[in-house]
Amino acid sequence: MAEPCRLVILISGSGSNLQAFIDAIARGELHARIVAVISNKAAALGLQRAETAGIPTATIDHKQFANREQFDAALRDCVEQFQPDLVILAGFMRILTPVFLRPFIGRLLNIHPSLLPKYPGLHTHQRALDAGDAQAGATVHFVTEELDGGPAIIQAQVAVQYGDTAEQLAARVLQVEHRIYPRAAEWFATGRLSLHDNRATLDGTPLPVTGFIIQD
Ligand code: GRF
Repeated sequence: MAEPCRLVILISGSGSNLQAFIDAIARGELHARIVAVISNKAAALGLQRAETAGIPTATIDHKQFANREQFDAALRDCVEQFQPDLVILAGFMRILTPVFLRPFIGRLLNIHPSLLPKYPGLHTHQRALDAGDAQAGATVHFVTEELDGGPAIIQAQVAVQYGDTAEQLAARVLQVEHRIYPRAAEWFATGRLSLHDNRATLDGTPLPVTGFIIQD
């Protein structure tokens, strides 16, 4: 069997998606090794999850840098040092500039808690509720230079229930995030998934613009 795919995972907070990767690897569902977890916040709970799992960690505090580009250059150099095959943004709450993005395009994934292209940016669940949407969800996508705009890989739909609060909806969406994100990474790790002509391609066939759709 090929060497496990080397993952670097970037976080800012709780790291429940990071935990989903750790668990998927432990269960043998994802042929990968997390070689580093990097946070821009020293207090991120996800760093403790990584340490518990014996994964090397690093913190690069964005507040120590004069501007985004300098932070992004330091982050890029730190990530490159771990020689990743795939870089995973898992609740990394900084907007990234081309200084960071360019070297990793095609091997950089993000998960966003909405059915993209709806609701890029923040407060996605409240925006879905305010709009009266029947479906909310999450999208795993390749990262490009457009914020939350890269080609979709997997989209999971979650039904909005009568009386849902943003918190209740977020909790149900998070559960599906934990299923779809390691699955997309496994497609990449096994050579099935790539970025071609700005489309996510699975087994040589471009995926629909929504990505592969999973209904809850
Ligand atoms: C998730 O909702 C993810 O979609 C968004 O940030 C949140 C991260 O949660 N990008 P966690 O830190 O993985 O628990």
